[in-house]
Amino acid sequence: MDLTAAGLVLELTHDGAVATVTLNRPERRNAQSPGMWAGLAEIGRTLPESVRIVVLKGAGVSFSAGLDVRTFTPEGIPGEPPAMPPGVSHAELEELIARYQEGFLWLRDPRFTSIAVVQGHAIGAGFQLALSCDLRIAAEDVKFCMKESALGLVPDLTGTKPLVDVVGLPRALDLCLTARTVLADEARELRLAEKIVKNDELDAAAADLVESLLKIDVGAARATKALLQQAPANSLAEQTAAERRAQSKRILG
Ligand code: CAA
Repeated sequence: MDLTAAGLVLELTHDGAVATVTLNRPERRNAQSPGMWAGLAEIGRTLPESVRIVVLKGAGVSFSAGLDVRTFTPEGIPGEPPAMPPGVSHAELEELIARYQEGFLWLRDPRFTSIAVVQGHAIGAGFQLALSCDLRIAAEDVKFCMKESALGLVPDLTGTKPLVDVVGLPRALDLCLTARTVLADEARELRLAEKIVKNDELDAAAADLVESLLKIDVGAARATKALLQQAPANSLAEQTAAERRAQSKRILG
C-alpha cells in the first residue's frame, strides 16, 4: 500500500502480524510535514487488529532529518497548506498541533509493539518519531539531535516525555538546550536504542527482535505493554493493584 500525502510518501506493507511503515522520501532525508503526519495518523487508525508489531523505518541514508525546513519559508512546502498559518489564535494553533501529534501518538498503542529502525540522522521531528516507538534499533552512524530550541521552538511532537523517561531530566535538558548531536557511543550509554549495530546488520537486528517478540503470546504482550506503560505515573500501590487486575484478566478472561 502506498500512501502519498501532499507529495510526501509513506509506504505501508503487511506481513501477517507485522506492519512495516517506511518514510520514503530519501532524496530529502525523509523530511516530515503535516501531510506525512496525517498519513501516519491514518495508518494508526486503520491498522488491522491482527497487527502486533509495527516497524518504522526511513528509506535511504537517514531515518529522518525532521520537519521539512521549507515550512519556515514564505512559500512553505509545495502542495501543502502552511504548517502554522498566519493569524491563527493560540487555541487554533494548539488544535493544529494536537492533530500533528496524532501522527506520533498512535505508536504507543498497546495492541502492538513499535520499533524504530534508525540509521543516519534522526533530527527534531525525526528524533521525536523514533522516541514515539517502544523500542529503537540503531546503526553505528546514528545521529540523534533535538534541534528545535536552535530554531527558537520547543519539541512538541510528543518526544519530551519519552526523552525524559529514557535519559532522565538533566540529560534531556542538556540535549534539548544545546541541540547537540548524540552519536552511537553516547546513544548506547544513554540507552537511546536497545541495540546499536553495524549499518549492514541493521535490518537483520530488527528482524531478530521482531522474531523474538512474535514468540510471546499476543494477549500477554498487549496486557504487559499496557501494564508497563502505567508504571511511571503510578504509585507502588496503584501499580501492584494494576498487576493484580491484569493477571486475573489473563487467567480468568
Ligand atoms: N527539510 C527539507 N529538505 C531537507 C531536509 C529537511 N529537514 N533535510 C535535508 N533536506 C534535503 C536537502 O535540502 C538536500 O536537498 P537537495 O539535494 O535538493 O539539495 C537533500 O535533502 C540532502 O540533504 P544534504 O545534502 O544536506 O545531506 P547531508 O547528508 O549532507 O546532510 C542533514 C543531512 C544534516 C540532515 C542536513 O540536510 C540538514 O541539516 N537538514 C536540516 C535538518 C533540520 O534542521 N531539520 C529540522 C529540525 S526541527 C524539527 O524537526 C521539528 C520542529 O518542530 C521544528
